[in-house]
Amino acid sequence: MSGIKELEKLRNLLEKHHEIWKNAIPLIASENVTSWFVREATISDLCHRYAEGWVGERVYAGCQVIDQVETLALDLMKNIYDASFVDLRPISGVVANLAVYSAFAKAGDLMLAISIASGGHISHAPEYASSGVRIGGTAGSVTRLQVKYLPFDPEVMNIDVDRAEKVIREMQPKIINFGASVFLFPHPVKELADAAKEVGTHVNYDAAHVAGLIGGKQFQDPLREGADTVTMSTHKTLFGPQKGAILASSEDLAAPIKQAAFPGVTSNHHLHNIAGLAAALIEFKHFGRDYASQVIKNAKKLAESLYEYGFNVVCPDLGFTESHTVLVDISNFQSSIGLGKDIEELLERANIIINRNLLPWDIKEGRNYKNPGGIRLGTSEITRLGLKESEMEFIAELFKKLLIDKKDPDDIKSEVREFRKDYQQLHYAFPSSKNPYDYLRIA
Ligand SMILES: Cc1ncc(COP(=O)(O)O)c(C=O)c1O
Repeated sequence: MSGIKELEKLRNLLEKHHEIWKNAIPLIASENVTSWFVREATISDLCHRYAEGWVGERVYAGCQVIDQVETLALDLMKNIYDASFVDLRPISGVVANLAVYSAFAKAGDLMLAISIASGGHISHAPEYASSGVRIGGTAGSVTRLQVKYLPFDPEVMNIDVDRAEKVIREMQPKIINFGASVFLFPHPVKELADAAKEVGTHVNYDAAHVAGLIGGKQFQDPLREGADTVTMSTHKTLFGPQKGAILASSEDLAAPIKQAAFPGVTSNHHLHNIAGLAAALIEFKHFGRDYASQVIKNAKKLAESLYEYGFNVVCPDLGFTESHTVLVDISNFQSSIGLGKDIEELLERANIIINRNLLPWDIKEGRNYKNPGGIRLGTSEITRLGLKESEMEFIAELFKKLLIDKKDPDDIKSEVREFRKDYQQLHYAFPSSKNPYDYLRIA
């Protein structure tokens, strides 16, 4: 039967993908790996169900147990983040942002956020850049917000507080959106929240990248620093399944958020991932603090080791990073290897998975997002595999061998495969005999 052949082809492809990850060094800052307890929950019957509406007020039958599962996940989130209100219905970080935009602004209103070149996310971006080039950012092209950029100081990879305060007072935006996709240092929420409040601005903090670091009490605490809402993905430094969440500082903000989440931006809210998130949050309550602390130690060590080998890691005077992320300016490799895309491809040939990234000064220097001057590295996933500081030195050495010594990527790949043999168990998780990268073959 050709159907069986096609199915076998699909299963073989998935197995092949798992095999690659089992033998790779995964350094993508926006990714992580879930435990088998999370996966067990995500393949439960909840992946077939709907539960439109709020817990206890559904407009679907069959939700008695689903309500209990969602309540458990909501309570865990409230507890970990000390939030007055939580909505877990957004199915991703972008959808959580969309819900906040529509809850607290309307088309034509002004939002301040960080530009993409400075590390901002496409969901914060305008429809058009000031040059007239179409960016198609979610805030601009879906919610139709006007977006202006927060003044940013590339020297310290952070928002320029004095200039930003002036802009907030002058422009009186409807929303200010902190947070970024290249998020090295805590943002000045505390420093700018008063100005925002004085002019009636809603303060959102997009914690997509740093949710696990905040939950693990190792970064900043935006809800205590003046953020009204926090949006996030649940699958980057927080090691849940792919989902989104909104936290609020006060129950008073619940009504517009609930309305925006449903019927605004979701109908089905992916209940299996609510269950998987509950499992991840239970793990996080036990291991989150130690995990987040090691993630940051690893990022600092990786940055320092790369810098010692001569890589232009940004912000050496500031200790490189206070998060899971390391940003490296690789534009000096342009004539020998190429730019971000070329370096990303070369590393992938050696089973080291990273991603290219714009640097704040790239556009001015004639580079663009397709082949930018930077690479972004993250330590969230490798930390879950039990790697510590000494292994960061080893990874930096692999970068040196490949990019500086120009060693054959196939030789480095063999080293990576050999190295990974010792790191096949998940850490900061309850014990399970299964390898986190095993493919689950039912029959
Ligand atoms: C700052 C920021 N916000 C939002 C998102 C989008 O999250 P998701 O992919 O869950 O929609 C990302 C994704 O990387 C991000 O970096």
